[in-house]
Amino acid sequence: MTSPDDKQRQLDAYRVDPRASEMTTDLGIPIGETDNSLTVGERGPTLMEDFHFREKITHFDHERIPERVVHARGAGAYGHFELYESLGEYTRARFLCDTSASTPAFVRFSTVAGSRGSSDTVRDVRGFATRFYTKEGNFDLVGNNMPVFFIQDGIKFPDFVHAVKPEPHNEIPQASSAHDTLWDFVQLQPETMHMMMWMMSDRALPRSFRMMQGFGVHTFRLVNEAGKGTFVKFHWKPKLGTHSLVWDETQKVAGKDPDFNRRDLWEAIESGQYPEYELGVQLVPEGEEGRFDFDLLDPTKIIPEEEVPVRPVGRLVLDRNPDNFFAEVEQVAFHLGNVVPGIDFTDDPLLQARLFSYLDTQLLRLGGPNFTQLPVNQPVARVDNHQVDGPHQTRIPQSRATYHKNSIGGGCPALADENAYTHFPEYLAGHKTRRRPESFADHYSQATLFWNSMADWEREHIVAAFRFELGKVDRHYVREGVVEHLNHVDHDLAVAVAEGVGVEPPEKPVTDNHGRSSPALSQTNTAHSPA
Ligand code: HEM
Repeated sequence: MTSPDDKQRQLDAYRVDPRASEMTTDLGIPIGETDNSLTVGERGPTLMEDFHFREKITHFDHERIPERVVHARGAGAYGHFELYESLGEYTRARFLCDTSASTPAFVRFSTVAGSRGSSDTVRDVRGFATRFYTKEGNFDLVGNNMPVFFIQDGIKFPDFVHAVKPEPHNEIPQASSAHDTLWDFVQLQPETMHMMMWMMSDRALPRSFRMMQGFGVHTFRLVNEAGKGTFVKFHWKPKLGTHSLVWDETQKVAGKDPDFNRRDLWEAIESGQYPEYELGVQLVPEGEEGRFDFDLLDPTKIIPEEEVPVRPVGRLVLDRNPDNFFAEVEQVAFHLGNVVPGIDFTDDPLLQARLFSYLDTQLLRLGGPNFTQLPVNQPVARVDNHQVDGPHQTRIPQSRATYHKNSIGGGCPALADENAYTHFPEYLAGHKTRRRPESFADHYSQATLFWNSMADWEREHIVAAFRFELGKVDRHYVREGVVEHLNHVDHDLAVAVAEGVGVEPPEKPVTDNHGRSSPALSQTNTAHSPA
């Protein structure tokens, strides 16, 4: 293992010494008997005054916390990030400017749909969430292993997740894409088509977390010392290359070892085969966002690398397994809103919704506002403010006054000056509306681009996946609706899928000379409904 970094040193203070010592209660009272409760006579009732019994049972009764509403199953590891070259021209984020710095990091990989105990090798998106413990505070890059997302606006996220998760009447199927509600959502929301192409590809079956790409998905904004903004997409590229299992393998592995990906990550790190990923950025100068035939704010679109190459800027090495799964992997609370000076958001409506959702859910999942004090969540940067109280408060403020401004407290934190986070002063004006612009209306072109970039064997796997997953859907009109959308991605694909799912092969669609489907079909809610 490498020498301890700031984060490891901080965690050391919380580690329970594993050397054998005397058993005690939670309050340190020595315990000499833990197999027999205190009773009246040898055969009589148990006494309430048996505080050790009460504490032991009560603690056990309260061991569970809610699992994450999505991405419930995961595995995590610590590591560090090093920069190849300064990005100071684009951002004032110090960890992206200082090539001599090694920034501690924690990563959690996850599946999305399944519960905490589900299998690793299911067909699903994988989460790739990275926390950088920078000297200016935590920066969380909460991404996935696919560069686009199912929906354009986060207000649809509850609908989407309800459709993806097991159906409400019988909680079936667990962690599978083969069911009516998911495909019903897909046929009614054609913006899902690009992501569904990725989902039906082998990218949804990663062989190892060490062999998986990661993407920030949204367009973010870098801001330099002079206040100049640059749009950015973040990419992770695994050093071992990107590799998948094939469908048949995933099925067998799921039976033999449901922990396949989790075990692989753990064992690789234990044996010194440290997973490594290269961070890359696609940069688009502020003011040039209009040069693409898609909207940079639309999270169902990539920026093709032929148009903006990915520039490698640094590497992440994962070199330490956590000591305790619950304390670290389960209690880590990533949040897209955790940014440091020099990194800012854009108006992508999916990104904006996420800014609200993560903290909100973590207040419930981790029991109140002080979860930032949990060891895995604590920044290595100094924390000082007037937040007080709340459940499980572990800080002991020394000041008499916990308000700003005050003249009597002593030790009142001064407001930061040049170090302070400043929000990019984007000029905005407009009418309130629930309409999306026309630039969000093309749901097929990039799905076609993806299909066209596939080798023959990859196409075979995609067709087989559509046939298998969609073929399990009861409702005939849902299968027809999906095939109709596929017809606007690629006619041959649609015919091949139709033949495998008992649907009449469609006619070739009318397209304009940009390869786009007719506008009517690119709007939502055009698909089939019950006859
Ligand atoms: C959890 C990624 C969209 C809500 C996660 C996690 C990842 C992730 C990686 C797991 C974090 C962990 O390991 O603890 C993404 C990506 C998205 C996306 C890449 C789209 C680009 C959304 C949207 C919402 C949302 C639109 C809601 C509006 C949540 C919630 C959790 C979560 C509530 C659970 C967080 C927790 O309990 O700690 N997401 N997500 N996500 N995501 Fe997303």
